[in-house]
Amino acid sequence: MTDRFRIVEMGPRDGLQNEKAEVSTEDKIHLIHLLNQTGLPAIEVGSFVSPKWVPKMADSGQVFDRIEKLPGVSYPMLTPNMKGLGAALDHGVQEVAVFAAASESFSQRNINCSIAESIDRFAAVCEGALSAGLKVRGYISCVLGCPYEGKIAPDAVAAVAERLVQLGCYEVSLGDTIGTGTPVETRALIQAVSQKVPMAQIAGHFHDTYGQALANIWAALACGIRTFDSSVGGLGGCPYAKGATGNVATEDVVYSFMQSGIETGIDMERLLDAVQFSAKMVRRDVSSRVGRALLTKRAG
Ligand code: HMG
Ligand code: MG
Repeated sequence: MTDRFRIVEMGPRDGLQNEKAEVSTEDKIHLIHLLNQTGLPAIEVGSFVSPKWVPKMADSGQVFDRIEKLPGVSYPMLTPNMKGLGAALDHGVQEVAVFAAASESFSQRNINCSIAESIDRFAAVCEGALSAGLKVRGYISCVLGCPYEGKIAPDAVAAVAERLVQLGCYEVSLGDTIGTGTPVETRALIQAVSQKVPMAQIAGHFHDTYGQALANIWAALACGIRTFDSSVGGLGGCPYAKGATGNVATEDVVYSFMQSGIETGIDMERLLDAVQFSAKMVRRDVSSRVGRALLTKRAG
């Protein structure tokens, strides 16, 4: 395949926002420095959100200030409102992300407002960010199922995606927050969203709760999606989606792509260093299949 494929690393943000273990600021910085060695083009660093809602991200500003920023690599931060954008501007962040939902109940639980209210907030955030020269990415949660409402209609996702692109998001990442989606549903979703948003502006963000994430990625890939979010070591979950596990593991995606002749530009050996550290950091065994297999092989 000759297209460009892009992996956006979620571990330090989506991963660590919901790990049980207390992770120090130093360890977060070290993890990002290990990820810097891998060739990843984007590493989401953290969130400027209410520390009462998501305490684990309270030190995101410090982490952002202290990490080495490599040229050509983006280090996005989540900003749900103008307060978040203000913090991003104060810290010199170059890329921010707004996050909407395709289900009303999840929107209320996650950001304490309706979908329509969130779009109004994001309009202001996007305008402020774009006029300051920042890039803005958009997320939509619950695209393949909601913990409170069950199945979500693909058209509902497409409508939110269209609004986010109209607001100036360069890309909309479709989040299967609770990981219930399957490849057939993924295909129907991408077909619906690509009626409203160019394929090149759609990314896939699959959580692996039901073990479907890699299959969903391949279904999305066959539809023409070229950007995927993933977490080193499969870290994480979501604070408002009970039982949700982490994103698909970065090493699972890289292995599957690499062995299939898809170039990601990511160095697996360096990625394994980050996988190993991530498990130590959250004090549990490496959870990804590829991580376990390759680290066992490496240990001889
Ligand atoms: P609210 O309570 O409606 O906000 O929360 P508010 O404006 O009324 O403010 C309440 C308090 O929060 C005030 O502080 C504000 O200053 C503070 P107090 O006076 O009580 O001390 N506050 C802030 N502090 C720091 N940074 C800010 C900020 N804004 C207000 N930006 C709010 C609304 C959006 C703030 C809240 O609901 C929130 O922070 N939610 C964050 C939820 C979150 O981070 N979820 C996880 C990320 S999304 C995700 O993981 C899904 C994704 O991965 C895709 C997928 O898998 O689906 C992206
Ligand atoms: Mg997520």
